[in-house]
Amino acid sequence: MAKTLLIISGGVEAADAVKRAKEMGLDVVCSDINPEAPGFAIADSALIADVYGPSDTAAAAERFHTKIRKIDGVICVAADAPLTVAAVNTRLGLKGLSQRSAELACDKLAMKMRFAECGVPVPWFSAVNTAQELMRIVAEKGRDFVIKPVDSRGSRGVQRLTHVSDLGKAFLFARQHSPTQRVMVEAYLPGPQVSTESVVVDGVCYTPGFSDRNYEFLDKYAPYFIENGGDLPSHLPQTIQDRIKEVQGMAAAALGVTRGTVKGDIVVHEGQVYVIELAARLSGGFFCTREIPLNTGVDFVGCAIRVALGENPTAEELTPKYQKHVIQRYAFPKAGKVVAISGGDAARAVEGVVEVNVTAKLGDIIPGAGDKRPSAAMVLAMGPTREVALASAEKALAQLRIETR
Ligand SMILES: Nc1ncnc2c1ncn2[C@@H]1O[C@H](COP(=O)(O)OP(=O)(O)OP(=O)(O)O)[C@@H](O)[C@H]1O
Ligand SMILES: [Mg+2]
Repeated sequence: MAKTLLIISGGVEAADAVKRAKEMGLDVVCSDINPEAPGFAIADSALIADVYGPSDTAAAAERFHTKIRKIDGVICVAADAPLTVAAVNTRLGLKGLSQRSAELACDKLAMKMRFAECGVPVPWFSAVNTAQELMRIVAEKGRDFVIKPVDSRGSRGVQRLTHVSDLGKAFLFARQHSPTQRVMVEAYLPGPQVSTESVVVDGVCYTPGFSDRNYEFLDKYAPYFIENGGDLPSHLPQTIQDRIKEVQGMAAAALGVTRGTVKGDIVVHEGQVYVIELAARLSGGFFCTREIPLNTGVDFVGCAIRVALGENPTAEELTPKYQKHVIQRYAFPKAGKVVAISGGDAARAVEGVVEVNVTAKLGDIIPGAGDKRPSAAMVLAMGPTREVALASAEKALAQLRIETR
């Protein structure tokens, strides 16, 4: 009998994972609070449950598991909800992400303390309880810091202190984005940034996902960090790439992730590798669903699904078969209300373009930087060289017209 997989989140990126699971012959249950979630259209069963409500989803999963069909494994795609995965695992007695690992993964302060204890290199960091405390740190150590909410996501409230004029306001802005009202600072480490994504199989960490993050708008959007895409394969020297993979494995072990997936935000500063964050989930932004398979030929999502179901993919299956050039770029219209959208088909027709995803809809509000990613569309292009792939991506972006007012 086919095994049953629960996929938490039915968003557009998660729908790719639903499709992959269906191709693998699995029975797929998808959970989301939005009855219109795209994943529901292709899944076998739907659970209406809040992705960010661990007990809500766990209760719905348990009802399904006992009354309808046994669930054999659970994954969460393109949503940052490890606590929900852990709650389902605990409730159904499944192997996989534990409550303790999920708690560490959702709390940047607890995570960094754990990393420091385990010898995983991290930037200097400290909790900041009041604006006065922030001012004391700045008086003592200068402004070369990043302030951030301890438990938010999507870069919301993350700011570079060298680029803010009012420290009190920066503190309040970071705090406003923390559900638990907690804030921290970290040394700002300039240098190339990398997104990494791994599948951990019985404690062995394989990292086929490796992308240079593109931050060409760092100054334009300062004090906020807005990534506008990524380049695969990485241009970093092999020795650094090897070290990044080693550090990623140490970080996964420090969080206690022995089976599952982890997604790293890594910075290389003066030749040394540091972990900014390790998320205990599958990535969003089409990284695991599209970029990694196009770049390496590794069926990342398929391997992650099998691990969740208690199976062990082989080292060969998790090792890149090749390194094709893939470029991802986002379109960032001016902040405002979206009043016209066109050019999607023209962008898709550009040679080398493999995906154009227009996420903005008429009437949507494109926010200013600092709150939410101000993107409206994403393009993926491939080519025989990085330059050719990049030219295709840029040509596709130029075809897209997303007007805001
Ligand atoms: N100490 C640091 N040094 C250099 N860059 C940093 C540092 N901290 C954060 N950044 C930059 O800011 C981005 C967002 O920070 P962080 O990952 O902590 O927040 P987040 O809310 O989890 O954002 P995201 O979902 O984009 O990863 C990082 O991906 C990185 O580019
Ligand atoms: Mg992050």
